[in-house]
Amino acid sequence: MSVELTINKEIRPGKVTWRSPSNIALIKYWGKHGNQLPRNPSLSFTLTNAYTETTVLYKMRETPGEDVSLAFKFEGQDNRSFEERLKSFLNKRAVELPFIRQLDLEVFSRNSFPHSAGIASSASAMSALALCLCTIEDQLFGTLKDDSDFEQKASTLARLGSGSASRSIYSYAAIWGKTGLVNGASDDYAVPFGQNLHESFKTYQDAILIVDQDPKKVSSSQGHKLMENHPFANVRYEEARRHLNELGNVMKTGDLSRFNTLVEMEAMQLHALMMCSSPGYILMRPDTLKIIELIKEFRKTTSAPVCYTLDAGPNVHLLYPLAEKAKVTAFIQQVLSPYCHQGKWIDDMVGEGPIQVD
Ligand code: PMV
Repeated sequence: MSVELTINKEIRPGKVTWRSPSNIALIKYWGKHGNQLPRNPSLSFTLTNAYTETTVLYKMRETPGEDVSLAFKFEGQDNRSFEERLKSFLNKRAVELPFIRQLDLEVFSRNSFPHSAGIASSASAMSALALCLCTIEDQLFGTLKDDSDFEQKASTLARLGSGSASRSIYSYAAIWGKTGLVNGASDDYAVPFGQNLHESFKTYQDAILIVDQDPKKVSSSQGHKLMENHPFANVRYEEARRHLNELGNVMKTGDLSRFNTLVEMEAMQLHALMMCSSPGYILMRPDTLKIIELIKEFRKTTSAPVCYTLDAGPNVHLLYPLAEKAKVTAFIQQVLSPYCHQGKWIDDMVGEGPIQVD
């Protein structure tokens, strides 16, 4: 039964809140086409402590207009530039959510991590908003009662806001993009991968070492665009597919040594692509390299199965099994933190995924 998603009766005002985490890609999405579709499949860990909490208040609008009716506050303050971006995103969502222009929306959003920590917040922010919109659809029309329908639509909407956000919908780990590795994988939305993980990965730790918190000189959207005429684009997309197939299996069996090799290769390939784009650019800082060298040295001297990865920025994610927590924390405090901006790092871990708060 298909339901027309327009409101044609009185509705009661409502309120919905979701808390949604960031994620860290192990196989990187870098390069897109069409309406935010990936050139290669990607795989990520869903995090816990770095999250966005978003509340949406909605009520029937007196007179529907061309534009969505939106008031937005970020961390309790007006923020015109975020509000404009959000408005433009929501206006386009009238395709998937035809009722959106029939509502007055008030959106309140906050991050658990400092806004200026240099942590990409688009994955947590867009996934939290997408989950709120799906809950509103379900409250109004009862169309998303089935969990997998709900998650699929939330992941699709999140993807349209920011590709990597599609993966934050699921606990532990997710795959976005067509691959034979899991049933139902799609370029339109992410699918869960947590059910396939070796137990050790469900408690994996991610120390986010903040090297630089200034806004990036080249944004991710510019970076994706530079892949369009990139000399190594096709080789890269093949490499990503090959890495994903292997890493997917390694994450089922728990082979940490191969996990570390593949994850570090992905981080290096991502930044190598940036360096040989036209024009080329470097997002790593001298302290990023220093930290990477120190992590490799620590692994060699202690045999602790730690590894690093990078997103599109200078900060380093140090990934390690929970059993190594005491040793790694001491290593960060004594050796790595002097290379972090004001000694800052975020103690994060793989987690359960988004939660509805109210
Ligand atoms: O979702 P975007 O457009 O911000 O791109 C994210 C790109 C990387 O973080 C570098 C990789 C990824 O898969 O998350």
